Amino acid sequence: TRVGVFFGGVSVEHEVSVITALQAVQAMDDSKYEAVPVYISKDRSFYTGEQLLDIENYKDMDNLLENAQKVTLTTSEDESVLLQKDPIPRFGKKTITEIDLAFPIFHGTFGEDGVMQGYFELLHLPYVGCDVLSSAGGMDKVVMKQILRDSGVPVLDYVWFYSSHWIENSREMTKMIHEKLGFPVIVKPANLGSSVGINKAENERELEEAVEEAMEFSSKLLVETMVEDMKEVNCSVLGDYEEVEASVIEEVLKSEDILSYEDKYQGGSGKDGDGAKGMESTDRIIPAELEESRAKEIQELAKDTFQILGCSGVSRIDFLIDQNKDRVYVNEINTIPGSLSYYLWEPAGKDYTTLTDQLIQLALK
Ligand code: DAL
Ligand code: MG
Repeated sequence: TRVGVFFGGVSVEHEVSVITALQAVQAMDDSKYEAVPVYISKDRSFYTGEQLLDIENYKDMDNLLENAQKVTLTTSEDESVLLQKDPIPRFGKKTITEIDLAFPIFHGTFGEDGVMQGYFELLHLPYVGCDVLSSAGGMDKVVMKQILRDSGVPVLDYVWFYSSHWIENSREMTKMIHEKLGFPVIVKPANLGSSVGINKAENERELEEAVEEAMEFSSKLLVETMVEDMKEVNCSVLGDYEEVEASVIEEVLKSEDILSYEDKYQGGSGKDGDGAKGMESTDRIIPAELEESRAKEIQELAKDTFQILGCSGVSRIDFLIDQNKDRVYVNEINTIPGSLSYYLWEPAGKDYTTLTDQLIQLALK
């Protein structure tokens, strides 16, 4: 089976995607699957070639892209999907290979949010993970909260609005948010991952500043109640609408109030821009220290969240525990989690190779 592993892309999480994808290719059982890398550069071109599988080569991007093969995807008469040279030569061999399914490994916009998934639908190519709707719903934090709240899954109180509305009514909006949510609050762009543009506000002035900053990243904005004495825990879910399983729970330790971009990808130790080490060194406790009933509750909520949103493949659902009120909230879902959350499945005896195998089999089901 030839697996087109699609990664890179145009989101702010491009580099992380490269790391996750190369890890996954390394984990894939090469007696069953042939991994065909399809790298999407920041200028939206598609490339393939062996050299794309070595992380070292990404340090010299110009050189890498000069030597990789630029490709385009086409559907042949018998509906098979082919990787062809781009531009397609007039004479000689055009087709590089055929792929049987796509394994999208992007984080963030244009890859994790249904855009690539829609492209695979159009090509009639089976693909790993969430479909268009669940990918898009999981990426938009407002849509996600609306769907979950409607199904009785606990989410933090929030207010959302478009930047154009804010620009015209910032005074009134500030007052309204103050009245409805109090302080402190967290301001977020509705549809970006990796903590980009997310800030805490303790008063009306800070709220205005935080909204201004978030507006640089998105025209749809979300303000949420901030839990002050909180614990952040994550749980991964694997399966589809028929059958799901939940992983062990991890507790994520953070150095500041909000887990910053640097915390996530440089782990405080990444000096050389090679985030691979950073990803590994994010401080986490596995399994999280929780009462058994609480852990069970979180695993059930994780599975519910996954199925209510219509997910498939592997996702990671991030929770906040309000330690004062002793309550749990779903904070967000990552439908293509960093490292595909493989480390949350290992304690149960499922190694990364088994995980990728299960994901591919789910896509071909
Ligand atoms: N979006 C990143 C990769 C994560 O939270 O897993
Ligand atoms: Mg994310």
